[in-house]
Amino acid sequence: MDIVLSGIRSTGNLHLGNYYGALRNFIKMQDENKCFFFIADIHSLTTHPDPKILHGNVRNVLVDYLAAGIDPEKSVIYVQSEVPEVAELYLYLNMHAYLGELSKTTSFKEKARKQPENVNAGLLTYPTLMAADILIHNADKVPVGKDQEQHLEMTRRFARRFNNFYGVEYFKEPVAYNFGQELIKIPGLDGSGKMGKSEGNAIYLADSPKDIEKKVKRALTDSGPTEPHSVKPDYIENLFTILRVVSAPDVVQHFEDKWNTCEIRYGDLKKQLAEDIIKVTAPIRDRILEIEKDEAYLHKVTTEGAEKARESAGKTVREVREIMGFKAF
Ligand code: TYM
Repeated sequence: MDIVLSGIRSTGNLHLGNYYGALRNFIKMQDENKCFFFIADIHSLTTHPDPKILHGNVRNVLVDYLAAGIDPEKSVIYVQSEVPEVAELYLYLNMHAYLGELSKTTSFKEKARKQPENVNAGLLTYPTLMAADILIHNADKVPVGKDQEQHLEMTRRFARRFNNFYGVEYFKEPVAYNFGQELIKIPGLDGSGKMGKSEGNAIYLADSPKDIEKKVKRALTDSGPTEPHSVKPDYIENLFTILRVVSAPDVVQHFEDKWNTCEIRYGDLKKQLAEDIIKVTAPIRDRILEIEKDEAYLHKVTTEGAEKARESAGKTVREVREIMGFKAF
């Protein structure tokens, strides 16, 4: 039985990118694997250190996660900061992580550019904390989107380095996983890059059908192709990328054909796209509205989750300390 671990930063509600990148396949995996899922609230402090919003953000992700189908009877669900062993392993791993490699990480360079007034050490060592999240349970598979590939590579490198340095075969080298498929990147609706919480281009699982229709309607289009079989501009390709994940293959083919014969009507495409997104999100949204009121349930899930996660994490930290040479007098 493989150990699977999935994490999401608590910086806002879950969007379609999170769902297809890291969550949907994870839900399918709950029966066949030992699954952990957690909310990366310590990671969120690298960009959003605000005590007024922290708890609310964690709560939103928790509710979205549960509503999307994570089953606490099958999987372990916890909040990162409630498992302090993670922070301890992070500290130890940092002793074998180097400034050169950390400062070259794409996500670090991006964040440093975005928030030049707050290039904190947490940002620099973000990949070490992520490695600690994964290695603390010695996970085999980590469901992630394309944007996390480099972090997973670094986790493997840290695991390998630890094993080599201490002459042990202790940590496994976890792989980024998307259910046998390529890692995916769900684009935003604004024609640029990926769908993200901070980009203002996301469709959230909690969005109402009306909001989704509005957002899809607003997506950038143009006057349509003039040459048969022409290459799609990025902003149109993006709409097709989302269509490919939410719609049936014959629907996608229909619009591909219309594109290729220059008969595409973006109004129809958007109507279909909104409809198919709503088919995915509406049942999740209904559950969100139910679960978010249930304080006792959220308390129970996180308390039991932290307890189980700490059991697994505590074992790792004890063994790592021994390997590293810590001894009691
Ligand atoms: P985060 O919170 O940005 O996103 C959570 C997960 O969603 C995926 N994702 C996407 N996938 C496809 N298309 C998109 N547009 C898109 N946007 C987000 C991400 O790849 C990710 O899998 N560093 C992580 C959180 C984390 C973590 C971990 C993940 C901390 N520790 C340990 C896995 C294992 C992050 O910022 O993801």
